[in-house]
Amino acid sequence: KDTYLLNFKGYNFESSFVDADFLENLDDFEIRDDDVFIITFPKSGTIWTQQILSLIYFEGHRNRTEDLSTLDRIPFFEYNIRKTDFLNRPSPRLFCSHLPYYLVPKGLKSKKAKIIYVYRNPKDVMTSYFHFSNLVVRFEAGNDMEHFMKRFLDGNVVGSRWFDHVRGWYEHRHDFSILFMMYEEMKKDRRSSVLKISRFLEKELGEEDVEAIVEQATFQNMQSDPRANYDEILKYEVGKRTDEGHFLRKGDAQGF
Ligand code: PPS
Repeated sequence: KDTYLLNFKGYNFESSFVDADFLENLDDFEIRDDDVFIITFPKSGTIWTQQILSLIYFEGHRNRTEDLSTLDRIPFFEYNIRKTDFLNRPSPRLFCSHLPYYLVPKGLKSKKAKIIYVYRNPKDVMTSYFHFSNLVVRFEAGNDMEHFMKRFLDGNVVGSRWFDHVRGWYEHRHDFSILFMMYEEMKKDRRSSVLKISRFLEKELGEEDVEAIVEQATFQNMQSDPRANYDEILKYEVGKRTDEGHFLRKGDAQGF
């Protein structure tokens, strides 16, 4: 039971997409001053923030002249499914990750590299996670919500306990250069969120660029953008149980 989970130092990883050597050496992974990490508990807005950062950093993403998926622009740090060569990657390197505060490379504590931590109302995280678990081949199906809720609350899911993740990062915020973003606020005011993120990243953007980013970061536009919707990745690399179902499922914010 739960064989898809790999517990490492008290935190649950998905076992088949993670490399044991990589985990053992996480602490010493060399961080560059201009590295940027998007960090989240699963189902909290990772892909969305990936799209926003891709749009901020890459003109070719903004004006749609380049056809590169957000996963290639911003690879998953601990789930490096495309075997991206992190060490020889040009700066600034952008990553996303679900790591808890105590497992990230210690170089992040220089406070030069930046972290954007996105959190979301746990009830919506659980709902999103429930549907996702029933969709992804590797995950244990959530069956009914009651069954899944127990697993979620017990932390028997990838990411372990939601509360530990959020609290850990919040309580240790002074150790890092970190910006907290709330999914619900991003949903309510995309424009302010984009500006907040770009200011934190010290990226100057013209008014036209801001417009283009705000426009292309909507749920609907991402859904129909193969670079951003993860449909191919889910189908061919992650593996799904049925033809239906998407990473971009509903994109709702119910609020607290
Ligand atoms: S994962 O698997 O951890 O990487 O998933 P993650 O990307 O963190 O979370 C997926 C949920 O984010 C929703 N999403 C969005 N909501 C609003 N606006 C935009 N643009 C957007 N993009 C992704 C996605 O639909 C998942 O939530 P649910 O509730 O399942 O729809």
